[in-house]
Amino acid sequence: MPGTELELNQESVKKINILHVEDNPDDAELLRFGLLESGLTFELTVVDTLESLRKEVENQDIDVVITDHNLASFTSIEVMAEVSAATSISPPILIVSGAIGEELATELIKAGAHDYLIKDNLFRLGTAIDNAIRFAQETNSHIQSQQALAESEERYRQLVLHLERLRENERRELARDIHDDLGGNMVAIKLGLSHILQHFQNSCPNQEILELIHVLQNVTEESVLSMRRIISDLRPSILDDLGLVAAIEWLVREFESRYKLKAKISTVIETEIKLPNEKKTGVFRIIQEALTNVAKHADANLVVVHIFSRQGNLSIEIRDNGKGFTYKKCSGFTSYGIVGMEERANALNGSLIIDSTPENGTSISAIIPLTE
Ligand SMILES: Nc1ncnc2c1ncn2[C@@H]1O[C@H](COP(=O)(O)OP(=O)(O)OP(=O)(O)O)[C@@H](O)[C@H]1O
Ligand SMILES: [Mg+2]
Repeated sequence: MPGTELELNQESVKKINILHVEDNPDDAELLRFGLLESGLTFELTVVDTLESLRKEVENQDIDVVITDHNLASFTSIEVMAEVSAATSISPPILIVSGAIGEELATELIKAGAHDYLIKDNLFRLGTAIDNAIRFAQETNSHIQSQQALAESEERYRQLVLHLERLRENERRELARDIHDDLGGNMVAIKLGLSHILQHFQNSCPNQEILELIHVLQNVTEESVLSMRRIISDLRPSILDDLGLVAAIEWLVREFESRYKLKAKISTVIETEIKLPNEKKTGVFRIIQEALTNVAKHADANLVVVHIFSRQGNLSIEIRDNGKGFTYKKCSGFTSYGIVGMEERANALNGSLIIDSTPENGTSISAIIPLTE
């Protein structure tokens, strides 16, 4: 049932919840009087210790804290520290005190107080409270939207990593299935064909059949080669068998022969590269994506991969002499390669630096700490 107009008006004038920190009863009374004079609608709680201040701030929705500067056992500086320790988003703080001098007043404002008023002169108390609350609301909504943005960025980062991990597992499983199932069948076909050939080599009256068997042998041989290539693309076993540097060398040679593009590699290893498998895969995939980008976009005729480990870091640079590009962070949602490289580098506690200018080639560097 809707309320009467009077009830609605009473509800719509929200009381300002004021917490006053004051240990002198006369001064507390003086402030209450000043508030009544200001015409504000308020609810006032007075506390005189830091413990009761903390309790009130934690348990109540305080709109504004008003505090004296010099109390018997603490100052407004401690009040501000207590308030900010007790809440994630602090209410604004006004200092109402005896004369404390301009220098200290400025220091208190710097320390986080919103305003400073002299207790014998409270005529602008109402405006000061209004301003402080409005300012705090604006600041808080800004802080909240920044927090929401940071949270959603973190969720996005976790999602990318999760998807990368899923993709890596799927690749590994697919590589294993192809190897075990298809690979086994291919061997059986190869053996069967050579058995048939041996059997009919000298006795088969139909030459066409013999030629067909030869063709099938060649097709099978080619299929085995492409199957091996597909397995290596999905998950190069060299990464597990011979380690990261050998796998990168293999990748660069593969790249050179596949794209007919000159690729050099230089390696300076001062510290031993000891990374768990998941991290090795991360580094490998960064280089793989950077090389794929060179082939897809750069129009280059040379790419150089530098690998060096120094002072506990592994640094990798993939530099091409192609057309370059202007890199813009978050420039769209259609390209995932660079975002993926950045997220992988972050997940390895490292960083990715992209240095590219149109017509001047591109350098992608990843710096990864080798210690946990
Ligand atoms: N080495 C490079 N030389 C020139 N341009 C590049 C190079 N690397 C990246 N780019 C540019 O940056 C863009 C973004 O690259 P990114 O790898 O994120 O996406 P993509 O390769 O287009 O798509 P995918 O999601 O399949 O990787 C590319 O479209 C290309 O314009
Ligand atoms: Mg790409």
